[in-house]
Amino acid sequence: MKHYPYQIGTMAEYQTAYAESLNYPDQFWSGIAENFVWHRKWDKVLDWNFKEPAIRWFEGAQLNITENCLDRHAATAPDRLALVWEPNHPQEAVRRYTYAELLQAVNQCARVLLAMGVQKGDRVCIYMGMVPELAIATLACARIGAIHSVIFGGFSAQSIADRVEDAQASFVITCDRAYRGNKSIPLKAVVDEALLKTESVKKVLVYQRTGEACAMDASRDLWWHEAMERVSTDFLPATVMDAEDMLFILYTSGSTGKPKGVVHTCAGYMVWTNYTFVNVFQYRPGQVHFCTADIGWITGHSYILYGPLSAGATSLLFEGIPTYPDAGRFWDICDKHSVNILYTAPTAIRSLMSFGDGPFEGKSLNSLEVLGSVGEPINEEAWHWYQDKAGKGTLPVVDTWWQTETGGILISNLAGVTPAKPSFATLPLPGIEPVLVDEQGNRLEGPNVSGNLCIAKPWPGMLRTTYGDHERCRTNYFSAYKDLYFTGDGCLRDENGFYRITGRVDDVLNVSGHRIGTAEVENAINLHHEVVESAVVGYPHDIKGQGIFAYVIASSDIKTDDVLRQHILNAVTKTIGAIAKPDKILFVKGLPKTRSGKIMRRILRKIAEGEYAAIGDTTTLLDPAVVEEIIQSAKVL
Ligand code: PRX
Repeated sequence: MKHYPYQIGTMAEYQTAYAESLNYPDQFWSGIAENFVWHRKWDKVLDWNFKEPAIRWFEGAQLNITENCLDRHAATAPDRLALVWEPNHPQEAVRRYTYAELLQAVNQCARVLLAMGVQKGDRVCIYMGMVPELAIATLACARIGAIHSVIFGGFSAQSIADRVEDAQASFVITCDRAYRGNKSIPLKAVVDEALLKTESVKKVLVYQRTGEACAMDASRDLWWHEAMERVSTDFLPATVMDAEDMLFILYTSGSTGKPKGVVHTCAGYMVWTNYTFVNVFQYRPGQVHFCTADIGWITGHSYILYGPLSAGATSLLFEGIPTYPDAGRFWDICDKHSVNILYTAPTAIRSLMSFGDGPFEGKSLNSLEVLGSVGEPINEEAWHWYQDKAGKGTLPVVDTWWQTETGGILISNLAGVTPAKPSFATLPLPGIEPVLVDEQGNRLEGPNVSGNLCIAKPWPGMLRTTYGDHERCRTNYFSAYKDLYFTGDGCLRDENGFYRITGRVDDVLNVSGHRIGTAEVENAINLHHEVVESAVVGYPHDIKGQGIFAYVIASSDIKTDDVLRQHILNAVTKTIGAIAKPDKILFVKGLPKTRSGKIMRRILRKIAEGEYAAIGDTTTLLDPAVVEEIIQSAKVL
């Protein structure tokens, strides 16, 4: 096998690395894995089958991911900035952690967790705002081999309770409150409500962010600042982990009503997030990386924490929102912190587009070198606007396609190295063998074909299981098509072999880059006592990418539609969180069903899109007249 660099620098190098990775995966990945710190090297690079599935990378190896993210940089570049925190309110002080300081803080927090009784393998739920302590708490779990389950701060008490229960978590780490734009969100109160619904939690650690009054249960709750003072500040050796020990669980929506706990393990995830970070963004030592995601989502896990930190980058953590105090916030931050790499979501780009050029006035953006997009398909207009405005028409834009389950980026151009094509994620990374199949599972070869996107071989960062339910993992991802991992996305391959992701083909919505299952929203709506039945579909939304359209059959006409609509919105907010609130609710008398009782979502999608003429044949429906009725009320919504 040829020698090739860790960082791909040319198209020819990409082609070589890609071919080597598929022809000689063991040699390829053991070469890549040489770039990390191990307590013990692997006996076997890869052992796998997609039938069970059983996927094991770097078997026999031992490591701790935090030594790769912290200790090795603290040893060679202790004064380099690891984290820079930009608070929600721009007048508040920025906080900065060098690698030496971050290592120290993580160790101290890890000691707090140990003192609370957290042991290797315990599940710890983290429900916090975007403060440095969220990064510290997450890494502290990894330091001692506890399995973190970070829950996005916008989820409801019920969602927390479900996740705590599913993971049988004994510990929760939270904040008194979180700032988001001009709001202050009572996180601890939400946790308190959640813990009334589940019994497994023994201790709650609370970081004081805002200082407003906050109820504390003396038998269960501890203040972060007090607990940190009680422990030693001495170095804490990292717990040695096996390559395939669990690193974290992250819950994500699927096509059933119950979110699933995607499990990632230590070694493969580390290798994948590092390799993809360094190559896709073409990271150079000393660069400042600004990923605008929340750590509560996979993007934050992989490209705020583990990818950038394992590479020794300076990672910027932003507490606020893109439009507070005004729509120039991202550009201010880029100038203020000399950001080199900006990684954000199409929904943010589209929302900022609507503010015009004003927010760019007085901003230099001279430090920017690479722009990235993630989370949903980016339309051409948004792609060009992003490159023109943030990239002054010249900077490379990487459109990175991946999923919670994939751990890191699978399909993307490499900034300035491989060609870009607006709205195309373009080419697979080394190790990734995309396959397009039709509904019957026939492989679609050659250029200019569209189908369901699958991946043929394992890659180090892929999920290993869904927590507590391996069978669910198998049926969800590995049973639709034999010997393939099924992504749930539709995709086309053009004449150059470039891939364009066209969106989900299952009952999963992508709203503002957030994954939401239609069944989850339906369950939440159906909980309302005045609802008989509901059906939820997505429709194109200018800013959110997809909006949520709910068709609801109400049990009585007593309340006005407006009152019931508000009750339904409240029910969804309470059950899932505000992110899942329907954008449109249409009250209907019936739903289009087949004779076997299955709701014809295809028809409901067409109506939600306003494409009444494209509804097609309705004669197989139980009651075809229902469709005409729905169309008439949709027209006046
Ligand atoms: O439909 C794809 C879309 O987001 C889904 C994964 O969502 P989640 O697990 O929440 O992870 C989001 C962040 C990685 C995918 O199945 N998606 C993600 N990135 C892209 C995308 N769709 C098109 N282009 C992308 N670059």
